[in-house]
This record gives sequence, C-alpha cells and structure tokens, in this order.
Amino acid sequence: MVYHDEYTIEQKIKEDPTPEEMLRIIFDYTAKIANERHLDNVLMLMANMGREMIVSDRCSVWLVDKIRKELYTTVAHGVSGIRIPLAAGLVGHSIAMGEPIFIDDAYSNEPYREVLDNGALATDRKTGYRSKALMVVPFRNNDGDIIGAYQAVNKMTVSETFSQKDLEYLTLAASYAGKSLESVQLHHEIEETQKEIIFTMGEIGESRSKETGNHVKRVAEYSYLLAKGLGMGQEECDLIKMASPMHDIGKVAIPDSVLKKPGKLTEEEFDIMKAHTDIGYGLLKNSTRRILKTAAILAYEHHEKWNGKGYPRGLKGEEIHIYGRITAIADVFDALASDRVYKKAWELDRILNLFIEERGHHFDPRVVDTFMEQLPKILKIRDDYQDIIEDHG
Ligand code: C2E
Ligand code: SIN
Ligand code: SIN
Ligand code: SIN
Ligand code: FE
Ligand code: FE
Repeated sequence: MVYHDEYTIEQKIKEDPTPEEMLRIIFDYTAKIANERHLDNVLMLMANMGREMIVSDRCSVWLVDKIRKELYTTVAHGVSGIRIPLAAGLVGHSIAMGEPIFIDDAYSNEPYREVLDNGALATDRKTGYRSKALMVVPFRNNDGDIIGAYQAVNKMTVSETFSQKDLEYLTLAASYAGKSLESVQLHHEIEETQKEIIFTMGEIGESRSKETGNHVKRVAEYSYLLAKGLGMGQEECDLIKMASPMHDIGKVAIPDSVLKKPGKLTEEEFDIMKAHTDIGYGLLKNSTRRILKTAAILAYEHHEKWNGKGYPRGLKGEEIHIYGRITAIADVFDALASDRVYKKAWELDRILNLFIEERGHHFDPRVVDTFMEQLPKILKIRDDYQDIIEDHG
C-alpha cells in the first residue's frame, strides 16, 4: 500500500461514520486482527481501524521498547518503520503522563509548543505535510502497564478538529490494541527466543543427550500451575512456563563423567555439578529478551533454599526471586517422581512427606501450600506426560 503525502485537508472532506458504519469497521478489523500473527500487519490493521473510526488523515500505533527506551512502529501512514527516543515527541509525553493528548492546531498550540516543534512540526518542515489536529491515546496491557499509544493526525471532516467522541472511539480501539498486541508480541518474542537459544546452544558447540523432552514439559507445566495458584497474572505465568525448561541449561557444560554417573556423586563431583547454576546464568544473562532474562533468573536461583542453605549464593527467603522459588519445587518434584541415572523414582507419599518436612526449610512455605492445592492438576500433568521408555545408556 502506498500513502500519498501530497493531499491536503481541503481536498478530502469526509463525514464521520454512522453508528452502523462504526460497528462494521470495528467488527471487520477486529476479526482480521484476531487472525493475524505478524506484528507489522497487526500494527497496520490497527492504524487503519483507528483512522477509519475517527476519520483522521493518518493514524499510527507506537509501541514502547522498554529496554532501549524507544518508541517504535513498523509501518504507519506517511512513515516507514521508525524508532524514536521514548522521551521525544507527543507520543512519549502522553505515555509518560498516562493521559491522552488533544491538540486542535499544532501551529497555534502553546502548552506543547516545544514538544511539537521538535516532533510533528519538525517532520512537517522536512516533508511539507501540514499537521493541524493531533490526538494521542496511550494503551495498557492486561497487567495495566502502558505499552504503547495511538497517534492520530488531522481530522478529515469539516470540523478539522477531533471531538470528545473521537477520543472515546480511539480509546476503545486502544484498549483493544493493548490486549491483542500483547499476545502478538509474545508470539514474536517466542520465535526470536527460539532462534537465540539455537544460536546459544550452537556456540557452546555441544550436543548432549539430555533428559527426556517430557521432563522439560512437565517442569514447565508444574511451574505454570504454581504461578497460577499463587495468583500471578496470565502474562507472567506464560513467561514462567516458557522460561522454566531452560533452568538446567548450564548442564551442557558439565562433563558426562559427572552428569551421567550412575551412582552417588563425590563432594568434588557435586561441586562441579553445582556450577551448572552459574554457567546457565552466564549464558543467559546478557540477553535482552524477556523470556531469556526470566530463564537467567531461574538458572541462577532454582537451587537456592528458603533457609539460606542452597547454592550458588546461599540466598534466603524472599531474597530468592519468586520465579526461583517456584521452579525449585517443580524441579525437585519432577526429579523425585522420575527415574534418574543415579536413583529410582519415589512413591508419591514419600515425595509429599519430603515437601511437608521441607516446608519453610528448603522450600517457600507459600509455594508448598500452593503445590498441595494444585496437586490434582499436577498429578494429571505427570500422567499426561509420562516418559515412555528411559534409556540411560
Ligand atoms: P536433578 O536430578 O534434576 O535433581 C534436582 C533436584 O532434585 C536436586 O538438586 C535435589 O534437590 C532433588 N533431588 C533429586 N534426587 C533426589 C533424591 O534422591 N533425594 C533428595 N532428597 N532430593 C533429590 P541437587 O541435589 O542440587 O542436584 C542437582 C543436580 O545434580 C541433579 O539434578 C542431578 O543432575 C545432579 N545430581 C545430584 N546428586 C546426584 C547423584 O548422586 N548422582 C548423579 N549422577 N547426579 C546427581
Ligand atoms: C520489532 O520491531 O518487531 C520488535 C522490536 C524489539 O523487540 O526490539
Ligand atoms: C511524536 O510526535 O511523538 C511522533 C513522532 C512525530 O510525529 O514526528
Ligand atoms: C533438562 O532441562 O535437561 C533437565 C531438567 C532437570 O533435570 O530438571
Ligand atoms: Fe538444576
Ligand atoms: Fe533440574
């Protein structure tokens, strides 16, 4: 699609949509957006939806990149994908305040003179476009954090200014955008993360026979159930589920003679083994991806104990990240419920007794209580993801 910059407001006077037209716009676009998994396309559809709803000349959807402290949009009307500093411009201003901004004429507006002069008006000077009415509406994700904003430029009806109704419509579009963009971004992030993991593993240059894939799935599912049971938000639960399979990634660097030893480890061997926490952390900590950052915490802290007697740092109580306290239980439950090269699986009663004994010692008491509450679901996961045959050769 090509957007022409040359048309002026005078050339294209339009009407606000009737209520029936408004409904059609909303239904058509939300149906398309729900089926779209590519961030670029979702942003474009949202921009188009916003533009049709409020009859603006241009509309763009900006997202916050928290790490780089930038705003970015992949495509927008009149602009190709760009990044700007978060602090710059009207959009950044609106996001910082958490409030919509409404401007009738960019050239005579006083309160935002400086912001406009460096933003929209500076762009006008370069492109010859004439910005007049501007409106920015920030939007939030399911956790209530502001993750981006809608920006509309120039009202195409005779009024040439945005109305209170337009603000309400764009706010409606924005509340929908916040919810759907989060799931697209998560999807995007999963793909990027997968690429990064493959790369990281390749760098290590090692292909080790790992514990079965089902083991990794179970730890992920248990961690998810515990996070849910603790009342954590959906997004965070998903994050923990995606990151927890990587908690033992540092084991790739542990020699086979230790990792696969059929019997009990000596003290020296166990010291070598303990390094898998620091090694995993070292591999993951520099990533900017949320999933890998979470995985770095898990790798580092899943062997810490509530009473301070764990490793590698001997953290105590709530000094241990809640993610670490969750995956500690998921990991030990699965280790005990499965055959390992060095031990047979334990009976359920024996495992539960250990958890009761270790409540407030090895494990966070709250997480143990949650584990007990979630036990039926946890046992269902264990049964659904059974290891068919374990080959310990
Ligand atoms: P893993 O097999 O995934 O076990 C994870 C954690 O589950 C262990 O962390 C421990 O807290 C718990 N766990 C596993 N098996 C038992 C058990 O028989 N009794 C009790 N009370 N707890 C158990 P830990 O001890 O820090 O071990 C970390 C990793 O070191 C283990 O991961 C495993 O890969 C390795 N490892 C530990 N002990 C031995 C051993 O005696 N022989 C071999 N070959 N590897 C061992
Ligand atoms: C994107 O541009 O699609 C993602 C940007 C980022 O995560 O840094
Ligand atoms: C903004 O004003 O924040 C967006 C950038 C621009 O319109 O130049
Ligand atoms: C693995 O991720 O390869 C093993 C996980 C575990 O032992 O808990
Ligand atoms: Fe471990
Ligand atoms: Fe483990």
